[in-house]
Amino acid sequence: MAVDTSAVAKLDVEPGTLPETMAAWVIRQEREGEPKDAFQLEQIEVPEPGAFEVIVRVMAAGVNFNNVWASLGEPVSVFGYGDHPEFGHHIGGSDASGVVWKVGEGVTRWKVGDEVVIHCNQASYEDVEVHGLDPMAAPSQRIWGYETTWGSFAQFTKVQAQQLLPKPRNLSWVDSSSYGLTYFTAYRMLMDQCNMQAGDNVLIWGAAGGLGVFAVQLCKAAGANAVGVVSSDEKGELIKKLGAVDYVNRNEFREMMRTDDNLTDPAADKARFKGSRAFSNRVKEILGDAPDIVFEHVGRATFPTSVLTVKPFGKVVICGATSGYQLDFDVRYLWMKQKQIIGSHFANAYECMRANQLMAEGKVRPVLSETMGFEGVPHAHQLMHENKHMGKIAILVGAESEDEGKYEDGPGAIRAEVGA
Ligand SMILES: NC(=O)c1ccc[n+]([C@@H]2O[C@H](COP(=O)([O-])OP(=O)(O)OC[C@H]3O[C@@H](n4cnc5c(N)ncnc54)[C@H](OP(=O)(O)O)[C@@H]3O)[C@@H](O)[C@H]2O)c1
Repeated sequence: MAVDTSAVAKLDVEPGTLPETMAAWVIRQEREGEPKDAFQLEQIEVPEPGAFEVIVRVMAAGVNFNNVWASLGEPVSVFGYGDHPEFGHHIGGSDASGVVWKVGEGVTRWKVGDEVVIHCNQASYEDVEVHGLDPMAAPSQRIWGYETTWGSFAQFTKVQAQQLLPKPRNLSWVDSSSYGLTYFTAYRMLMDQCNMQAGDNVLIWGAAGGLGVFAVQLCKAAGANAVGVVSSDEKGELIKKLGAVDYVNRNEFREMMRTDDNLTDPAADKARFKGSRAFSNRVKEILGDAPDIVFEHVGRATFPTSVLTVKPFGKVVICGATSGYQLDFDVRYLWMKQKQIIGSHFANAYECMRANQLMAEGKVRPVLSETMGFEGVPHAHQLMHENKHMGKIAILVGAESEDEGKYEDGPGAIRAEVGA
């Protein structure tokens, strides 16, 4: 059945009642590939909430890199795990704002009609790690809308009740759909994993990207000094507006990147090392010292430079590997200078709640480059795949305009012009 994207904001059911089917952007295993082809619009059954689950009407959805990976089927296909084998489809989308539409058995903190932001971590209530260590350590831990289906690129989504956070009243549906995954990840990396302090110096790769725009703002809010790495001066100006001390345009240091060629050719590796050294010196010049923390997610291309650049006893915190996940570096710079490498992945519900509070207080703001209609889901992911975006892209689902849902004065999202 052809799905009419212009009708997604219209519903003919009242809160508390679910329609039988809904419009959803669906990836199926047989069409994994470029995002523009992998996502197809389908009419799908609406799920019922189980115990401690909630069905949320999606008002707006945020776009993240994880569903570029889901489209491509790389580094592994999502269809092998989570609830995908049960349902056979992937409805992606790990960020949303919306309205609680139906609650399952046992849910007491939330009721039909509540306006919410959704964080993307799921874990089973029965796993002991959830109750004493960290839900991120639970064997059942999954990222909703990536490792599970029923994500936010649909009229309704199914989540665990613990994923809900109050929607800030000063932010529109679109603004509040745009930050959860990347902002909460950056919050855990800097605030908890690195215990960032006022006065710390921080180097942030991809500082105008989804994680970077929040890492920069968190540094500013905590009194730390951020230097961002970007690939254009336009992006550099954006991050200075967000509070970075300054930026480095990585195109001036192209030779520092790890590539297949300089991995196997000692002469080329010497030139790469020289490039890394020059980059480290530039960072030191800007900050007056080497960084206490390097905020990593680029991976293979930048990791040797990160380990070299961080201060003795400093921390390289890493949550991703856009350029490749087989990392190599000269370990002497790690042990001789007693540096640490810290892995980090999303955040727990408590961290999400604390970070969301900073949003409600206007101390950290969403950064939106573009808002698209529901039809824009494949295109938005394609742009991200090609690194042609800046900040975050949001998708209108139940909301019909960018300002809908903002009830109080206060700073909304920072609108960043698209460029790159
Ligand atoms: N584990 C987690 O919980 C978690 C959470 C969020 C994201 N991630 C992962 O982290 C990565 C970044 O996510 P994001 O949302 O920030 O993505 P993004 O919006 O695409 O931003 C990443 C930035 O990295 C820079 N970059 C890309 N390729 C590069 C290269 N070869 N060398 C140097 N810089 C490069 C680009 O900035 P410039 O071109 O301006 O330098 C880009 O804007 C992704 O792989 C994502 O899957 C993991």
